[in-house]
Amino acid sequence: MRRGSVVALLGLALIAGGVATAVAVVPTWLPVAASREASRIHFVIWFVVAICIFIFAIVAAVMAYAVMKFRVREDDFEDGPPVHGHTGLEITWTVIPFVIVTAIAIVSAIVLSRNDAQAQYTLRINVLAQQFEFTFSYPDAKNVTSPVLNLPKGRSVELYMRSLDVIHSVFVPQFSQKEDIVPGLVTQLHITPTRLGTFPLECTELCGLGHSLMRSQAVVMEPAAFDSWLKKQEKTAAPPPSSGTSTTGTTTTPSSSAAGLQVFNANGCSSCHTLSAANATGKVGPDLDNLVAYARTAKQPLTAFVHQSIVDPNAYIQPGYPKSIMPASFGQTLNKTQLDSLVAFLVQSAQKSGNK
Ligand code: CUA
Repeated sequence: MRRGSVVALLGLALIAGGVATAVAVVPTWLPVAASREASRIHFVIWFVVAICIFIFAIVAAVMAYAVMKFRVREDDFEDGPPVHGHTGLEITWTVIPFVIVTAIAIVSAIVLSRNDAQAQYTLRINVLAQQFEFTFSYPDAKNVTSPVLNLPKGRSVELYMRSLDVIHSVFVPQFSQKEDIVPGLVTQLHITPTRLGTFPLECTELCGLGHSLMRSQAVVMEPAAFDSWLKKQEKTAAPPPSSGTSTTGTTTTPSSSAAGLQVFNANGCSSCHTLSAANATGKVGPDLDNLVAYARTAKQPLTAFVHQSIVDPNAYIQPGYPKSIMPASFGQTLNKTQLDSLVAFLVQSAQKSGNK
């Protein structure tokens, strides 16, 4: 091989490699890594991209050089010289890919095992997925529930995820991990947030009509802020001290309406329903400011109607709204206190807006 052709090949390889590097680096392809796991995953991505650019540069250079240098003349109809195998070449082009693929496998295996490694002090969070909402609960803190995933920065978190109905999948782009939530299984996901902020959390498995609405947020806070948030939630989540259960269901006090609002927010009702008392503007299900009128159409007393609509949502469908879209599981997931306070809250706010 002459020196001239080596220089030409090298030049072409540098140009091709430069262009490919620019395409890889200049646009922002990846979201910022907001967790330790995401940084490791991004390392694997860049490791593979670097190998790809290197190989692309060689292939593109040889191809461009061959096209220019060995171009046939227009009147040349000769066959090329017959070529038989070349053992050295064949060994080379088998060994190099073998080494590359093995290297990628080793790096990936290390990253996967580190991402799954159990840290010493892990915060456990239970995730409940159902059509079409996520509920996060904190078993270490009296099962405080939240429609938003609140996380302390720098602490290792493990999500234990269950589904009540179909397959869902949880994904926060900035955490770069995605895990399915499968009915009948408990799937797990480790996250160690490294960046403060609010990130989108979405369902990434087509799970029904409301799939595109099945969104929430992951909020990463300073550990101190997280602890005080948990404490505050623990207080509000504690059932009101009452002697005996109210059987009338219509007597409402300000504290029970606050508890009802908390249940309303914690269960994601606002993603589908409008209710001015909760600043909710959902448009999927019936407008809860009109409950008085709906109960009249359903020919039922208001309280019984509201209770039934939560526990057995398909018993009566308000005309004009889709059937079987409201989760039928609230009868199981809400305890009696929560259910009562939610019913009381809805009845109270419906009567208020009905009297306007
Ligand atoms: Cu849940 Cu899509």
